[in-house]
Order: sequence, then C-alpha cells, then structure tokens
Amino acid sequence: MNAEEYKTKLSDYFYGSCAGISVALAKQTGLLDVFYATNSPLTISEIAERNNSKDRYIKELLGSLVSAGVVEISDDSTQFHVPEEHKKHLQEYSVLCAFPTAFAERFNALTECFKKDGPYGINYSQSTSVCKLIGENKNCEGIIENQLLPAVPGLKEKLDSGIDVLELGCNTGLVLIGLATRFPKSRFLGGDVVETSIETGRDMASSLNLKNIEFEVLDIMDLPTDFSDKYDWCFVQDVIHDLPKPDKGLSELYRCLKRGQVFSMIECTVPGSMAQHANNLHACYYYTASTFMCLPSSFQQADSAAAGAMWGADNVRKALYKAGFKIINETVSESDEFITHFVCQK
Ligand SMILES: C[S@@+](CC[C@H](N)C(=O)[O-])C[C@H]1O[C@@H](n2cnc3c(N)ncnc32)[C@H](O)[C@@H]1O
Repeated sequence: MNAEEYKTKLSDYFYGSCAGISVALAKQTGLLDVFYATNSPLTISEIAERNNSKDRYIKELLGSLVSAGVVEISDDSTQFHVPEEHKKHLQEYSVLCAFPTAFAERFNALTECFKKDGPYGINYSQSTSVCKLIGENKNCEGIIENQLLPAVPGLKEKLDSGIDVLELGCNTGLVLIGLATRFPKSRFLGGDVVETSIETGRDMASSLNLKNIEFEVLDIMDLPTDFSDKYDWCFVQDVIHDLPKPDKGLSELYRCLKRGQVFSMIECTVPGSMAQHANNLHACYYYTASTFMCLPSSFQQADSAAAGAMWGADNVRKALYKAGFKIINETVSESDEFITHFVCQK
C-alpha cells in the first residue's frame, strides 16, 4: 500500500466512525423507529413530533445521516425517508454501530489496564450496555434452527420428550427462552454472573408466562455441588474464552452433565495467524471486541489464562479434551465463518 492509499484508508475510518456513531445515536434516540414505522417522506417537524424530540437536534442529526447516505432527502431539502428495501439492513447495522459506543464505556478503565502497574481486568458486570446489545444482536431463531438443533444427534426428539437443560453465560437468556417456548416438556436453567441480565431474563420469561424456565446468578467456575450429573444437555455460546480459567469452567460443566450426554460449545474460532488477518475488517471487529470485552474479562490476575476471543480452534479442542470431553462433531456457522459449534460427549 502506498502512502496515499494508506491516508485514504485512515480517512475512511475517521469518517466512517462519525457516520457510525450518528447511526447509533439515531437508533438510541428513537429517530430510526420513526422511519421504520412509515413509508412516507417526513419533514423535520413531523419527525420531531412523532419522536417527542426537539426539532433542532433532529435537524442536526439528519444532516449527518443524509451526508452519510443513510437517510434520503428530497431535492428541496424538506423531506426525509429511508426506502423500504434499506430498512432491514439499517436495523441490523444500527445495532452493530452501537457496539463501539458501548465498548467506549470502558475506555478509561481499559486505559488503566494497559499500564504495567495498573489493574489486570474488568468484569462484565461493570459495563452492562454491551450485554444489552449482545442480546439485541442475536438471531435466536437462526441459532436454534441452524446451529444448535441440527448439530446434536437426537436433540430435538429428546427436547420434545422432556429433558433438563443448562445454559451458562446466557446473558438475558433469549436463546433459552426460544427453546423453552418451543419445547414445553423440557426444563431449562439459565445462569450468568451479571445480575441485571438474569433479572431481564426472568422478567421476559414471566411476561411470556413460561413455567419451564428459571434464571439464576451463577459463576461457571464455581457451580453448586448439587448440579453434579444432573443435566441432559449443557450449552454455552461465546463464553469460555471470557473466563480467567477456561479449564476450570469446562471441568465444572463436565461435572454437571450426565454421563454419555452432550455439551455444546459455540465458540469464536477465527482461523489463521495475525499476519493472515491483515486488512480483514471482520477480523478487526473480533480483535476490537476482544480487546474491550473478552480480554479484560479473562485477564483478572497475573496468572489468568487471558485467552480472549482469538484463542483459536486448536486451543478450544485442547481445553475440551483436558476437561474430559470427547468431541463428536464440529460445525462452522453458516452466517459467520469465525464461529464453530463443538458438540462434545461426557
Ligand atoms: C460474550 S457474552 C455472550 C452472551 C451469550 N451467551 C450470547 O452468546 O449472546 C459472555 C457472557 O458470559 C457471561 N460470563 C462471563 N463470565 C462468566 C462466569 N464466570 N460465569 C457465568 N457467566 C459469565 C457474561 O456476563 C456474558 O453474559
């Protein structure tokens, strides 16, 4: 890359980050919802009225969104709209654009962690906006239909007949709630260390009147003694690399599973070396999320594993074997080549 191309790249990142944070603000303030709810172009006053906002702020933010090409404007600059075919992309990417703002909640704390004599890590419970966004960004139906059920032999039939299921690091439990709704004869328990996520999960389950699901504040690395040999299926998604001791978490999960039963581990498995990730912005997203979230969570003290999201499939396999699991199948996600479902047996 020559110096001019390098400059263009940096300038794209700068301008792109301005457009991204404007999209995130438009999502958070409800401005985007106004566009989703109508097919007709609207004036600034109509938008402000529908969003219960001040005209002046709406006008300025629309300026950003129009210049970024996210919102369309009439030739006389009086009316604004988002074409119908753009809306589903805007919905998806407005959630993603909000991630950097949530990461930024930990900007100062993370700066301290970099210092040789600073703290080692940051807990998930110290920044709950990211937990909320992770939930919003989840395609639960897709995960259940395409990732979980087809990969585990006989799972659907077992869930139909009624089994005990444990998910740890469940966040607000959206996938577990989807499963509990679909399989009323099975019993589901979701655990997470973040209390507010567990409360949200409980509230959602009770608003759906689900009787076969419970949520508890649980630490994967120290599960209750009466969980031993109790569960017919345990699963985790995007959690084990966040633990200061992944080995300890996996051996606790092994203890909770009945002999012969299955543990599903959905994990980040970004292939290739750092050099092979050069100029790959999807990999850049994973490194960024890991720097802000996963590494500080998995690096709580000097002797922590500090795995982070980029630990790779080989380290996942080693950790699973060390805990006693036998890997019976591995499936790479169709929607994200950096995610693998490891199906393991006790
Ligand atoms: C990256 S998020 C993934 C959330 C959810 N599984 C998903 O895929 O949407 C990691 C989750 O693990 C939880 N977590 C981190 N350490 C944990 C621990 N020691 N025990 C239980 N949950 C933990 C976090 O609170 C967070 O909800």
